[in-house]
Order: sequence, then structure tokens, then C-alpha cells
Amino acid sequence: MIKKLISENKDYIIEMRREFHKYPEQSFQEFRTSKRIAEELAKFGIEFKIVAKTGVVGFINKGKKGKKIALRADMDALEVQECNDLEFCSVNKGVMHACGHDGHTAMLLGAAKVLNEIKDEIDGEIKLYFQPAEEIAQGALKMFEEEPLTGIDGCFGIHLWSDVPCGKVSVEAGPRMASADLFEIVITGKGGHGSLPHQTVDAVVTASALVMNLQSIVSREISPLESSVVTVGSFNSGTRFNVIANQAVLKGTTRTFNPEIRNNFENILKRVTKGTCDTYRATGEVKYTFGTAPSINDERCSEIAAQSVKTLLGDDGIIKMEKITGGEDFCYFLQQVPGVLAFVGAGNPEKGAHYPHHHEKFSIDEDCLEIGAALYAQYAIDFLKN
Ligand code: NI
Repeated sequence: MIKKLISENKDYIIEMRREFHKYPEQSFQEFRTSKRIAEELAKFGIEFKIVAKTGVVGFINKGKKGKKIALRADMDALEVQECNDLEFCSVNKGVMHACGHDGHTAMLLGAAKVLNEIKDEIDGEIKLYFQPAEEIAQGALKMFEEEPLTGIDGCFGIHLWSDVPCGKVSVEAGPRMASADLFEIVITGKGGHGSLPHQTVDAVVTASALVMNLQSIVSREISPLESSVVTVGSFNSGTRFNVIANQAVLKGTTRTFNPEIRNNFENILKRVTKGTCDTYRATGEVKYTFGTAPSINDERCSEIAAQSVKTLLGDDGIIKMEKITGGEDFCYFLQQVPGVLAFVGAGNPEKGAHYPHHHEKFSIDEDCLEIGAALYAQYAIDFLKN
């Protein structure tokens, strides 16, 4: 039933996606997108509320007896100049929907329309979270301040994925996306003349040693069976060839799928920084900022989702996909209530949809939109029934 109802709305979903694609907006700046979502929900007769300035929460069957589910779609774009040649290319210079969030929003609108049409036949409540600011990992928590997940039994989110062929979906249980935290290390030495190193404490040498010592965290301290990353992405120091620098600043990120390792990273970084700085007579200060937690799919919900995929696409629709070291702020939903982050295939080289996410030529096979919209709706129904 869902498959048929959604396919009748395929053109609507594609049209919405193209509109969102044309007018991409940065994190927490999604004013136009938010307004359009609100207008569409109003048109369908779905009650809604604006939260976190640009977030929209829709309610279907509010107060109805039974279980409650939260469906989530993110809506922000990226600071990327689009290099596609499309009729509906971004008109906002330097901003592009290069991650597929335009599709997520359109799919959830399509699902909302259909679910609302058949709401009397649905047991339980559906809450629609149109979420801002996923790309800076702040939108989910900001929405919860005004519209928490209290009383919600399950959650479901989708990410379109260009590495997965259109027509296939991954919903397996366990860790799916990594934690993504940030660190900044400021090393302070003592500046001086490049010809007289003995009078100085060289911040460049200390920071260089530290970058190398940090490499042993993953290779020597963490189990080889636990995928983890410590990356120093930026190293800034010095002003001149013959001046010994008094300060160096390193910036980097950590990734892991294991919450325990994640919680240890800060102390490990502090220990290695102190040890290295002591060796070179410098001092170091570590500022550790928590970004996203690992996104971990619930076992039981993953089974329900697999069933939903099979209902829509048959047994062939399921694909196994390796977990991803990228971060996703849907983790804050999954931390509170059991659920699934599904990866819906959007790739199709024949339609130019083979560029990675965040690429200036990122594109999707729009046939995936119907699948994603149907999956939102089908999962909601299947979860509420179970
Ligand atoms: Ni994304």
C-alpha cells in the first residue's frame, strides 16, 4: 500500500527536492527551507511547531494511543560551490546541497503527506523532525531543548548514500557511523634567534615530535580490532626562516565506533602532550571538544527495518555496507531511543551520480527519493505495529 501511495507522489517529491537543491542554506540559516516545510505541512493539514529557529516538528495522530515514533530528516547545505550543470543548480553562491539533505527533506515531506492521508489506520503517534544544522552537529540537541524525545519509543533516520547503488538499502545493526570529536593543542616554548637554539624552547620541534607521538595512540595503544583515527589536520607555527617560534597550534579530529575509547581520547591526548612537551621543555594545553557520538543501530529495530525494505524492494533490496568513519548528529536521537539510521542507495554512474558526498559535483539518482520516502513511511507503520 505504501509503495503505491508514495509512487503516486513521486513527482511531488522530486519537485520538492529540486526546489530545496536550488535554494540551499547553511546550518541554522535554513529560513527559506523551514518556511517551505511549514507551508507544505499546513497544506497537508499536519499540525507543526517551529523549534530551534529553523527546525520544524510535525505531529501526526498527536495524543493517539499506542507507540510513538520520531522520523528525522536533516535540511542544511554546505559551503561548496556547485559545479553541476542542472536546471535546478544552486542559486546561492558558494552554498550547495552536496550531501543529499535536500533529498532527505523532500522524502520526509512525501512520507508525511502519505502517512497523514492514512493516519486513521495507523496505530500510534508519529513525530516528524525536520532538523537544521546537521553539518555542524548542533541541530538535533538544539531541537530537543524545545521538543524533546520524551515518551518516544523509537527513531528512524535516512542518509542517501552515493556509494550504494540506487535500489539498495543498508539497515544493519551495530555501529554505523563514528564519533567525530575535535581537538586543539597549543604548545608554548620560548622564541629566539634561529642561529642560537640553545637560548630558546623550540615550539616547531616540540609540535613536530608531538604529531609523531600521537601516531602511536591508534597503532600501539588501541586494540587493532577497534577502528579508530587520530588525525592532525592543521599545524601552524612560526613567522620567519631565522626566528625560532615560541608557539605552535595543532588542530585535529578523533574517530571511533566505541563509546569507551571515545571517552578515553581526551586523557590520552593530554598525557602524550604533557610527556612530549616535558621532553622538549615546552608546555602544552589540550582543548578537547565533543562533536558527534557513534551512531549505533539497535538490533531489534534493524530487523524491523530489514523487513520494511523487503516489503518495498524484495529480498534483493538489502545490501551490506561497511561502517563509515564520518560523523552524523542523528547519534543524539539514537543515544536516547532505539532506532535505525538507514543508508538508501543514491548512486548511479549512468546518471552522473558517482561523486562522493561533499564533492562539488555530488549528485543523486532521483529514483532513490521514492524509495527513501516509502521507507520512512513503511518503517513508521511497521515499528508502531510491532
Ligand atoms: Ni550528510
